[in-house]
Amino acid sequence: MHAIVCHEHGEPDVMQYVEIPQPVPSAGEVLIQAEAIGVNYVDTMRRSGRHPAAPKTPFTPGIEVCGRVAQVGEGVQQFQTGDRVIGRCVTHGSYAEYVAVEERFTVACPEGTSSEQGAALFVTGQTAFHALVTMGGIAADENVLITAAAGGVGSCAVQVAKRLGANVIAAAGSPAKCELAKNIGADFVVDYSQSDWPQTVLDLTDGKGAALIIESVGGAVAKSCIRCWSPGGRLVIYGKASGEPATVSGDDLLFGNRRVYGLAVGTVIEDESLMRAAMDQLLEWLGQDQLKLPIGKVYALHEAAQAHIDLESRQTTGKLVLKPAG
Ligand SMILES: NC(=O)c1ccc[n+]([C@@H]2O[C@H](COP(=O)([O-])OP(=O)(O)OC[C@H]3O[C@@H](n4cnc5c(N)ncnc54)[C@H](OP(=O)(O)O)[C@@H]3O)[C@@H](O)[C@H]2O)c1
Repeated sequence: MHAIVCHEHGEPDVMQYVEIPQPVPSAGEVLIQAEAIGVNYVDTMRRSGRHPAAPKTPFTPGIEVCGRVAQVGEGVQQFQTGDRVIGRCVTHGSYAEYVAVEERFTVACPEGTSSEQGAALFVTGQTAFHALVTMGGIAADENVLITAAAGGVGSCAVQVAKRLGANVIAAAGSPAKCELAKNIGADFVVDYSQSDWPQTVLDLTDGKGAALIIESVGGAVAKSCIRCWSPGGRLVIYGKASGEPATVSGDDLLFGNRRVYGLAVGTVIEDESLMRAAMDQLLEWLGQDQLKLPIGKVYALHEAAQAHIDLESRQTTGKLVLKPAG
């Protein structure tokens, strides 16, 4: 089969499109013939070696896939050959024509859902849901600030927060990205390439600021978020796309009765009941057209390096998807 393989960590050009043997599913695994493959920012971190869980080389990057079951391993109970499914690999393995996924990280994909939407759902949806609900304890009518709101996770989080009744302030790095966030339902948008954007958030919320902040950029953006964070508020840190971690001072917490949470979604979804509950809700919204994952661009599988270049240079909106030939 064709797959992307990294023989070393490094820049996007370490991703080579090659032929390798098709995987054989182990006990408890489902082999999926890929129709579409989701690209996540974390894939770029693992490719470059910047992630603490970067796989040893050689490896095939990627953690999301949508397609049909081609074969099942011993003991698999819920799926059979031909079923349409969405799968999530633990750290790598999905940029390939065939992908072996643990049964516990496989869910049925409704026939009416496109393979692009299916491939975009698992990691993006689980991260948005657990940031807002499991960690953030989102409540209806509160002000929720979401950074990188036009990205894969961000654009999903905007919609999940709206479905849960929040007042959503979407923050992103350009006017075009703000436009996308507005189009998917954000109540307010702020462009954090503008210097005084936290004041805009305060102005938009009658001086109250955001009771819940969902943050994945880190560095200067995270620091500025503190300026429009309500007393008693919560902050969920789940990424650092800028390369700089978020920093919060003890005084920010102490003098405002505030709380900070971290989210590593891979750990949360080890609890299968939490994963399934979130997925059931996400699939229900998807089926009712209450949730639509914006697909920024579809690339051929052999163009994976270009997808990473575009993602890392902040050129993209929504989710990027790879498609195997044929
Ligand atoms: N903790 C977890 O378990 C978990 C799980 C999944 C994803 N994540 C994190 O969630 C975030 C979103 O992931 P995603 O796959 O949906 O990516 P994404 O949001 O589609 O892309 C990353 C976005 O981050 C923003 N950004 C700001 N500074 C950047 C920089 N220097 N370089 C690149 N991007 C920069 C850009 O949006 P603007 O231009 O609007 O700033 C960019 O579009 C990532 O930080 C990822 O690591 C965490």
